[in-house]
Amino acid sequence: MEIVIQPTAEAATSIAARLIARLLREKPDPVLGLATGSTPLRLYEELVRLRLDWRRVTTFNLDEYVGLRPDHPQSYHHFMWENFFRHLNIAKRNVHIPDGVARNIQASCERYEKQIRAAGGIDLQLLGIGADGHIGFNEPTSSLASRTRIKTLTPQTRKDNGRFFGGEHKVPHHVITMGVGTIMEARQCLLLAFGKNKSRAVAAMVEGPIAAVNPASILQMHPQAKIFLDASAASKLQRIDYYHRVFDDKPDWQRI
Ligand code: F6R
Repeated sequence: MEIVIQPTAEAATSIAARLIARLLREKPDPVLGLATGSTPLRLYEELVRLRLDWRRVTTFNLDEYVGLRPDHPQSYHHFMWENFFRHLNIAKRNVHIPDGVARNIQASCERYEKQIRAAGGIDLQLLGIGADGHIGFNEPTSSLASRTRIKTLTPQTRKDNGRFFGGEHKVPHHVITMGVGTIMEARQCLLLAFGKNKSRAVAAMVEGPIAAVNPASILQMHPQAKIFLDASAASKLQRIDYYHRVFDDKPDWQRI
């Protein structure tokens, strides 16, 4: 794991944006895994500002709420088109988001996995982290080998996401999410976490044991996982000086 700690979320986001921009310049037809929520919003703004060429980019989003139609204001379809895709020259047919209103959810999850494989796999998966250590919507005790499927949200996640819905009682109980195993097959993972309320989950992910009760901890097994943090999210890490030293002393060829 590479731990990049910056004083602010802005600074961490701008390094992450440069890394994604570099991938788009080096590989004109990359496959990106994308996340929703508050954390990547600034990153999406910055990527829009960079005016990159998205015509040959394919995307797969991590998750969607079950029962929300694509035009529902809280659906992740709506989130992604409003905050990101409509500002890019991306082709609609290259955008993939799990179908929260599929009549046969299991079949649509299997199709999603096939589509990822047919696209050649995910080059770079963007991730946030839940206060309970979830990635995608793989809640604590999710199988670390899981594939795209339906999951039940924990009360904590429904409470955390209630801010988008105007109350936690309005947050759906079920979601479709890429599995932990699906995420782990991405060639590169880039996780962003900002703010004090993520500090405990971040410390457990980076320095705790690998365990299904903390799904993000599996990223310790990923050969190319980069974790971008602001100072508050990093505040509970034990080896913080070491992470700073590693980043500051990088040889030029390894710099972002
Ligand atoms: C969203 C997702 C979730 C979020 C996590 C953090 O697509 O997969 O894992 O990344 O819940 O959400 P925020 O960024 O709102 O704190």
